Formats: sequence, C-alpha cells, structure tokens
Amino acid sequence: MYLFQRSEDLQNWLQTVRGHNRKIGFVPTMGALHAGHLSLIDQSAAANTFTVCSIFVNPTQFNDHTDLEKYPRTPARDIELLVNSGCDALFLPAVGEVYPEGLDTGVDVSLGQLAEVMEGAFRPGHFAGVMQVVHRLLQLVLPDRLYMGQKDFQQQAIIQEMIRQLELPVELVMADIVREADGLAMSSRNVRLSPEFRSKAPLIHEILSQIKQDSEERSVAEWKTWAHNQLEQAGFRPEYLEIVDGKTLQPVSSFKESKYIVACVAAWAGDVRLIDNVIVRG
Ligand code: PAF
Repeated sequence: MYLFQRSEDLQNWLQTVRGHNRKIGFVPTMGALHAGHLSLIDQSAAANTFTVCSIFVNPTQFNDHTDLEKYPRTPARDIELLVNSGCDALFLPAVGEVYPEGLDTGVDVSLGQLAEVMEGAFRPGHFAGVMQVVHRLLQLVLPDRLYMGQKDFQQQAIIQEMIRQLELPVELVMADIVREADGLAMSSRNVRLSPEFRSKAPLIHEILSQIKQDSEERSVAEWKTWAHNQLEQAGFRPEYLEIVDGKTLQPVSSFKESKYIVACVAAWAGDVRLIDNVIVRG
C-alpha cells in the first residue's frame, strides 16, 4: 500500500494507474477505522482496479469544538489495518493539503430541506463542511465510485444530491451498516462509551428493528413517542427519532406515504452522541 501525505504525490500516482478499463474506488474516512470502514474497502476492492482511502479529520464539519478535539485519532493502527486490507493507496493529508486556499471554500449547492432536518437541525454547519471536504477529495482523487456507509444516512443522501446538482462523474455506492454482535452500529465514537452505556447501547438498534418489524401495529406518531420513552427510561437523551422518506428525508405521517421509508435516531449516551437508522421499507 502506498501512503501519500501530499495531494500532488497522490495525484501523480493516480495518473500512473488510471487507464482504459481501470476503475478507481474511493473510501473517505476520518480514521479510527473499524469493521464498518473495512467493509467499505472490501466492497471497493472487489469492484474496482484500485482503491484509495483517505483519513482526514475534517475541521470544517465539527460544529462542536470539544467533539473535534476528542475525536479518536489512531493513525498507526489505521495504517496497519489498511495494509492488511484491499486498500492500494492511503491519503493522509494535513489541513493545508486539503484546503490550500483556506477553510472558507464552500461548495455552491443548495440543499434546502435535505439539510434542515435531523443532523442538520442539531449540528448547524455540519453538512456544509462534509460537502466541502468530500467535494475537495473527489476533485483530488477523481474516482469512478465513491463508497459511503448507510449509518450516516443523511450524509450519503446529501452527497448524492451534491453529485446530482454538480453533475460530478462519480457513482455513489451506499454500503450496509456493520454492527457489533449485539446490534450496536459500528462507530469510531463507540470506544468512548462508558461500560454502563456500552451495555445499554444495543437498545437503539432493538428499537429501530421493532419499528421495522411491527411498523403496521402503531401509527408513526405512536412509534415516535414509544421510542423516545424507551430511550429516556434507559438513561439516553434522544435528540430525534424521525421516520422519513428515504429520498427527501422529510418526516412522513404514515407508513403508506412513501415506498422508501427510513427510521433514523440520534441519542446521547452520556457524553457520546450515537446515531443509527434502519430502512423500514424500500
Ligand atoms: O463519514 C465520515 O467519516 C465523514 O463525514 C467523511 C465522509 C469522511 C467526510 O469527512
């Protein structure tokens, strides 16, 4: 595996490997890699000639400074995991390599309602930062396929919309959520959970699974109240539990309202914010 810290070196290498009938897959990450990231790498390696992974803790997508500071950084372990995976090149840049013209280089895409709900409502500015960095990384790597996890459902919907509006020549592949044996969605933040919350955390997936399995048995409003109560009783602080149309991300009031419905949740487990979702239909 090659390791590049400078954009120019990455681009030079890409120039030598690009070619007719060769596909480049790209997996952007913020490091602290886990099995969820590795499954994105595996999928990319299986479908493309070369796989590029980036590790960059993007400062512009953190609305909370403490979250940025506390974000786990484990580069040595990440490199070891990647060397043993199907990754061909790792891009591990400093901030100045990604944003040579400064941090105020936004992307001109109007997200409208897509960015106003759920994560957008609770993390102001977050998606502008995510779009900015993914756009920049796509410019550098120019991949044929971009791999993102379903766990950040709203994020992939927004990147899909950016690709559509800017007519970027890349296919977004959404990969299934990878879970711990007890159902907790894999996340770099899980290592920060207290033992107490780690043992309670599978409840989040249990709630989502129950909504999916028995959706017809309650109304959307009833499920939302039920889920909030379950989370609160277990000591979580839910920020939202929304049942939304998978394309527009707007809340539905009935399960019959759309053929593509996703239940999404964000809840604080002590000082760790967890998100998860399940595709109810679609
Ligand atoms: O999902 C993430 O880890 C990040 O938001 C991403 C897509 C790598 C952009 O920084």
